Amino acid sequence: MKLFVEAKGALRGEITVPGDKSVSHRAAILGALAEGETVICGFLPGEDCLATLRCLRQLGVEIAADGSEVRIKGAGLYGLAEPDNVLDCGNSGTTARLLLGVLAGQPFFSVLTGDASLCGRPMGRVTGPLQEMGARFWGREGGNLLPLAVQGGTLTAVTYRTPVASAQLKSALLLAGLFARGETVVTEPEQSRDHTERMLAAFGAEVAASGTTVRLVGRPKLTGQVIDVPGDISSAAFFLVAAAIVPGSEVLVRNVGVNPSRTGILDVLQQMGARVELLNPRSAGGEPVADILVRPGELRGVEIGGPLIPRLIDELPVLAVAALFAAGRTVVRDARELRVKETDRIAAVAEELAKIGGVVTTTEDGFVIEGGRQLAGGTADSRHDHRMAMALAVAGLRAKAPVCIDNAECMDVSFPAFAATLARLQG
Ligand code: S3P
Repeated sequence: MKLFVEAKGALRGEITVPGDKSVSHRAAILGALAEGETVICGFLPGEDCLATLRCLRQLGVEIAADGSEVRIKGAGLYGLAEPDNVLDCGNSGTTARLLLGVLAGQPFFSVLTGDASLCGRPMGRVTGPLQEMGARFWGREGGNLLPLAVQGGTLTAVTYRTPVASAQLKSALLLAGLFARGETVVTEPEQSRDHTERMLAAFGAEVAASGTTVRLVGRPKLTGQVIDVPGDISSAAFFLVAAAIVPGSEVLVRNVGVNPSRTGILDVLQQMGARVELLNPRSAGGEPVADILVRPGELRGVEIGGPLIPRLIDELPVLAVAALFAAGRTVVRDARELRVKETDRIAAVAEELAKIGGVVTTTEDGFVIEGGRQLAGGTADSRHDHRMAMALAVAGLRAKAPVCIDNAECMDVSFPAFAATLARLQG
């Protein structure tokens, strides 16, 4: 599918965005492992989270899903069944890595696979420590690449220092830690998103975080919960940037999760000079939530690196678009992880934005953008990466000529109603 976006002036209005992808995956997985019923409201019915539901059903979990309302009959920690076929995680790294943690603790054999993109992403960061805990894996590159065969077993708790700040890795180890006797301890180089820790606590596990270290006591009793999933700040980000770069805009995004481990985008937009306000702060399902109001400002280039990176890792493609319209230079560093996302997002940002007139130079662990120039417009490719597709669409809102995005159907991974929401704000 091709998506055409053209500048039509100010964006004004109120919108909501679909449920948080990270929280949706975790609610489904913990609901499956808990005893009793879990009801998830505001679940993201995007391709990634639907892949998680499909895999859980193949593991014997009873799930009734009706759009964004999902009811899960918990199987309990020891109630999953050996799947009779391959578990397909589609495009979803979170599904694959989190399920590897769960499958590591099962007394059965399973096989995980994914689409072409996911089959090229590193799993060794997860299978390595899970092997130390006692699970066995077979796959290409010594267990680094999907498809992966898993023989779970009795696990031993570990104390592990991760080489990268990755919530998927941390979560896989904590989920495996549920099946191990004793305490599993994970320390990261920088703090990654903490939705798993928060939700484990809500389901009744004994979990404690201090600095970048999380401790979990194994073999807890998890009890089904009612979970209200807030809107995804990573989906809101496209409209926050849109409102920041299009003169005269005023966009209110209601009901967005503002967990501090995810709000780097707000800090950076503010630092760039956009006017960002958090209204009506409250909490839902153990997560902080607010409405976010954004208006444009005189944007200027900024430096983005260090501990800020995990707090906005998924927003870097759209922040690159904001940087195109900011005076001066924007530098992103310490973001090597972008190279192993749905596509190599460092190369994709530079090469696809260049096709529509952006000036972007890549570095090993980031990119440099010379902003404040007119953007020509033209045709660019999503590279089957949902966040690239939507970032390119936002660029189209201020380009001289329309922007055409090839392979835009991948937006369904996280935000099926993106184009409709954008059209509504454009009046
Ligand atoms: C996610 C963690 C991040 C993020 C991804 C979702 C999660 O990945 O980029 O979109 O839900 O845990 P990493 O764990 O690879 O950093």
